[in-house]
Amino acid sequence: MTQAEFQQQTATNLMLQVANLNVYYGESHILRNVDLSIPQGQMVCLIGRNGVGKTTLLKTIMGLLKSRTGEIVFKDKPISKLTPDKRARLGIGYVPQGREIIPRVSVQDNLLLGLEAQPKGRKGNELIPDEIFELFPVLKTMLTRMGGDLSGGQQQQLAIARALMGKPQLLVLDEPTEGIQPSIILEIESAVKRIIAATGISVLLVEQHLHFVRQADKYYAMQKGGIVASGSTEELSQEIIQQFLAV
Ligand SMILES: Nc1ncnc2c1ncn2[C@@H]1O[C@H](COP(=O)(O)OP(=O)(O)O)[C@@H](O)[C@H]1O
Ligand SMILES: [Mg+2]
Repeated sequence: MTQAEFQQQTATNLMLQVANLNVYYGESHILRNVDLSIPQGQMVCLIGRNGVGKTTLLKTIMGLLKSRTGEIVFKDKPISKLTPDKRARLGIGYVPQGREIIPRVSVQDNLLLGLEAQPKGRKGNELIPDEIFELFPVLKTMLTRMGGDLSGGQQQQLAIARALMGKPQLLVLDEPTEGIQPSIILEIESAVKRIIAATGISVLLVEQHLHFVRQADKYYAMQKGGIVASGSTEELSQEIIQQFLAV
């Protein structure tokens, strides 16, 4: 194989592939024929107004919702029939919208819960790796606090850190900057970029904050449950921004 062929092959390696997904809540048809793919090591951003189905798509990828048709392939393995915990252990880390920190549990124990998603589960006496605190120094000073006592921005950092404890190869983030003050938004953005640079993992990001959207390699725009535009974020036009982001 020539180097060019090798590079082309690596460039087309997909971490996640979603094809022809149709998802319903009861009788309401929410996702319509959704196709989406995430190349290895890339950040892909899903944009769209409130209520179009972004969270529904992420929950379906995580196995929290069932699709009526379609296939989800993670690293060449079909995962549509797997439970959420199996998908997590295969290497998909999830930070849900609203963060879902356990409020009456310490920051340390919230983090350690993330170990359950490791390929072989939690072993018992594992520690929190230093890299977590290098990414989110504020967490180190708050280990004994209750999760619910942290600010919104700190809880978001905790939620991302908890997902990283499972050593994911794909990190799925649902509106990580929602309701968070601008200085912390930049911290979270920079942490996500450092995670990608340091580990080479792929990221699927749902985001409204334009500056963060621009950090992604590729975008998909959703309207009424269908993908209606996609491309490189370098080509993100004013028209697309106005149509699909709440700026
Ligand atoms: N649990 C549910 N039961 C019924 N309909 C729902 C439920 N959750 C969301 N929906 C509907 O599905 C659509 C898509 O919602 P969602 O995926 O949360 O959108 P987004 O994340 O893009 O804001 C909306 O019309 C919403 O009202
Ligand atoms: Mg949502």
